[in-house]
Amino acid sequence: MTYKRKKRAVSQLLNSKSISSRKSTICDEIDYILGKLVLEVTANEDIDLATYLKYFTLRCSVFLMYGLHLDCFGKDHALCDEIIRNESEIIRLRSPISNIEDSVTLLRYFPKLTNAHKAVECGQTRNGYMNELYARFQEGAKDGNDNNDCTNSFVGQLLAQRGSKRLSEAEIYSICLTFISAGLDNTPLNLNYLLGILSQPVIGQMYQSKAIHNILDNCSGDVVVAWEQSGEANFENAYVHVLVLETLRHFTVLPLSLPRTTTKPFLHGDVIIPANTHLFLNAYAANNDEEHFESPLEFWPERWLDERGQSNFAAKINQHFSFGAGSRMCSGSSFALYEMYVFMVKFLLLFEVHPPDSKLMITDPFANNGNGRATSFEPRSHHVKLIRRQLLSPNEDKIRDVALRI
Ligand code: HEM
Repeated sequence: MTYKRKKRAVSQLLNSKSISSRKSTICDEIDYILGKLVLEVTANEDIDLATYLKYFTLRCSVFLMYGLHLDCFGKDHALCDEIIRNESEIIRLRSPISNIEDSVTLLRYFPKLTNAHKAVECGQTRNGYMNELYARFQEGAKDGNDNNDCTNSFVGQLLAQRGSKRLSEAEIYSICLTFISAGLDNTPLNLNYLLGILSQPVIGQMYQSKAIHNILDNCSGDVVVAWEQSGEANFENAYVHVLVLETLRHFTVLPLSLPRTTTKPFLHGDVIIPANTHLFLNAYAANNDEEHFESPLEFWPERWLDERGQSNFAAKINQHFSFGAGSRMCSGSSFALYEMYVFMVKFLLLFEVHPPDSKLMITDPFANNGNGRATSFEPRSHHVKLIRRQLLSPNEDKIRDVALRI
């Protein structure tokens, strides 16, 4: 019952209409992180973008949820790093194949031999930062005027609900947790994978050239218009859109999706699956099914384009399984797609991605995985080289301002 209430609330907060009304917030966060990169990137030096991308996702989630800006590079640095580190540890602990006590039940009586103590520690650390964020939210919401970011945030909205829709404090806490953790181990990893693809010699340059030509064609070459329009995100820059879709499919950050337990028996073919059975969706296998995708092991964005060169998003969305499927499918898929698409359009307007001097990304997601027992892929760190794209001087001041303001 409480799951259904929370699911309904999360779906309302994250549906495309709600995300549409928060576009400018998300764009501000993108401008902020890109502004930081503009200030910090030195031409001809390799850079690892993983932390920037995690900060971006975390800031977006925290602002939408609580109306708070985290100063990831300044006074909130330690807090942000703690959240990122701890959430990664938790997702690792939740892996269906890393906890031997899940299968050998006797071990549950010897918690010291298992990961149980680690899970308790992570839980306590998590309570610490969740309470800190909530306390900051309460402080920020005090003045309560119409323009108050905290009262307008998702938590503000949930607290303002009355009657049967009103969630309990525990339910709101659980939704906050979902927001903080859900995006962190997948959106930045997908973006980093795509940037790693763009840094590959020859082929990476080819994808970028197609993408930037497509963006400029759609705005008659006016880069300021391209920058502003990207936030509308009707996925008009089809080539960027298909780069994102192909990344989601090819990389499949959660290769076994999330494990589920059946609540009642059901018939599959001629086999009865009993209640309380753990089921896994082999999303990686589904995304690489030869009957469905031509040359599935190839990163080939064009597979998502129709004969007019448009990405036929509505028709294709159900054809990859990176967001899961069915009633438990990812509730954040519209949000994640919007974040990734706009981020990539703006990123490409600002930077050319080049092969690094060292640590070029390994493109095979399994060969690149640093932890075979984890729930989500844990890609080994890689570098890219960034060079400012020359056509963009008109936006430089604006982006610099945003980075310094927030
Ligand atoms: C590229 C980014 C993302 C990927 C690949 C992804 C993938 C997934 C997958 C595979 C599931 C399990 C689906 C199933 O069991 O069938 C899931 C569940 C979920 N995701 Fe995401 N996710 C992403 C981003 C996000 C973001 C940004 C949010 C919200 C801030 C979010 C919120 C959720 C929620 C609430 C669920 C649980 C749904 C339920 O159990 O009913 N996700 N996600």
